[in-house]
Amino acid sequence: MSSEYKIRFESISMEFPGVLALDQVSFGIRQGSVHVMMGENGAGKSTLMKILNGTHVPTSGKFYIDEREMKFQTTLNAEKQGVSMIYQELNYIPDMSVERYLMLCREPKKGPFIDWKGVHKEAKKILEEENLNYDPKITLRNLSVSDIQLLEITREIKRNQVEILIMDEPTSALTNAEVERLFRDIKALKERGITIIYISHKMDEIFRIADDITVMRDGKHIHTGPASEFTQDSLVKMMVGREITNVYPKEKIPLGETLLEVEGLNSEFSKLSDINFKVHAGEIVGLGGLMGAGRTETVRAICGLDPYESGKIRIQGKEVRIKSVTEAIKHGIVMASEDRRRYGLILCRDIRENISLSSLKRITKKGFLQIGRERKLTREYFDELKIKAPGMGTATLTLSGGNQQKVVLGKCLMTQAKVLILDEPTRGIDVGAKYEIYKLITELAKQGIGIIFISSELPEFIGMCDTAYVMYKGKIIDQISRDKMTQENIVMLAAGGKIDG
Ligand SMILES: Nc1ncnc2c1ncn2[C@@H]1O[C@H](COP(=O)(O)OP(=O)(O)OP(=O)(O)O)[C@@H](O)[C@H]1O
Ligand SMILES: [Mg+2]
Repeated sequence: MSSEYKIRFESISMEFPGVLALDQVSFGIRQGSVHVMMGENGAGKSTLMKILNGTHVPTSGKFYIDEREMKFQTTLNAEKQGVSMIYQELNYIPDMSVERYLMLCREPKKGPFIDWKGVHKEAKKILEEENLNYDPKITLRNLSVSDIQLLEITREIKRNQVEILIMDEPTSALTNAEVERLFRDIKALKERGITIIYISHKMDEIFRIADDITVMRDGKHIHTGPASEFTQDSLVKMMVGREITNVYPKEKIPLGETLLEVEGLNSEFSKLSDINFKVHAGEIVGLGGLMGAGRTETVRAICGLDPYESGKIRIQGKEVRIKSVTEAIKHGIVMASEDRRRYGLILCRDIRENISLSSLKRITKKGFLQIGRERKLTREYFDELKIKAPGMGTATLTLSGGNQQKVVLGKCLMTQAKVLILDEPTRGIDVGAKYEIYKLITELAKQGIGIIFISSELPEFIGMCDTAYVMYKGKIIDQISRDKMTQENIVMLAAGGKIDG
């Protein structure tokens, strides 16, 4: 092979207990290119990148940077060779300040001690250079997922000797404007000759930035080639090994009784004003709008996670005032949160425990856990959702991102709620698994469950919702029915505009 390759993998295999995550993977990544990695959840993309950045040592095989064989034992070794990685799952300490986070592991020193004034100064400089308006002293707890993601990207881009930058689904939590900003950054990095490896499940993004694409399936390398050789369809087919037609299995379902009614909800805390909407049995109600429009805030208020001053919430006609998630579940409302790491999963626990976590009532008798029943019920959701793992006893920490999301969904389904709130349920989920989730949502609606659906991906939003309420700056500015639900209309309303009719 010629030396145009910055990185070359040669028969890399990686075995975890019970899982062959990578199976003799060989391919090259061209110097200075944007190389996109695609493949279903659990295909091995993140694992391969974690070998390149020194997190894992491969079971067998070799890899080269600039045709020199690398044997990284730690991420620090890799960093010294210019390899930097933005992880798929945000890992942060909520009590850490913005400035500490930005300067982590490269704090200026005074002798053996960290120079805190220097940390502050450097961080402030970076924030200013990047036009980011964050108080360097504020703790991460006070920021949203998208804020933190943006800070992490900034931190890695600003590292001095980066030569290879790995981005593992960097845009999964970014707003559209932030995605544009990232793409500009990527272009600038490319001009500096930096090689970028980009993992994503979002087709539109991939074709905008990719020079080359590598497809992986079940731990195997399937194909590498220039992006121009691929079409969306050929790519999907290569990824899942079959064709997917009729992506949105939407069916017309007659609406049943009103399950949930929100009337005149106001919240100073969440900056919501006069929120009104209803969810009927069998209905998929979309909350549309841009990130920060108040969609997540609305559902959090309903579930008792955030306070509200006035307004009424009725469940099947009965007024309720929900003060905690446990109460919400008692009333038949459950939410799958957009931030699965913060609110969705207990990572050190296994799949079975996570799925049954919110449904202990269903599996205890006279205060005793009925282990047999727990096994049986959780197994049903495990199978239905096709969670890819060696078994139910696998710790959720070791699952691929998309499979973690499926566990969160399983947990919500097991509560047998009447109203299911899904906040970005397909984030990080591959095309094949997305289709499975759409089918599942449709099936649940058929069974008479009312669904609140929040999604920033317009095609799935339009493809799935019966009714959409579009939010703008903490208000619902319009309700659109299925026949008026077009991409243009929603974009227009989400930007605070009006549509005809
Ligand atoms: N530390 C680990 N211990 C055990 N198994 C692991 C570990 N890390 C990954 N795996 C397993 O290896 C396989 C590949 O996972 P990987 O995270 O690389 O997938 P991925 O292609 O990045 O998927 P996604 O699109 O969902 O992020 C999965 O079956 C996963 O459960
Ligand atoms: Mg991954």
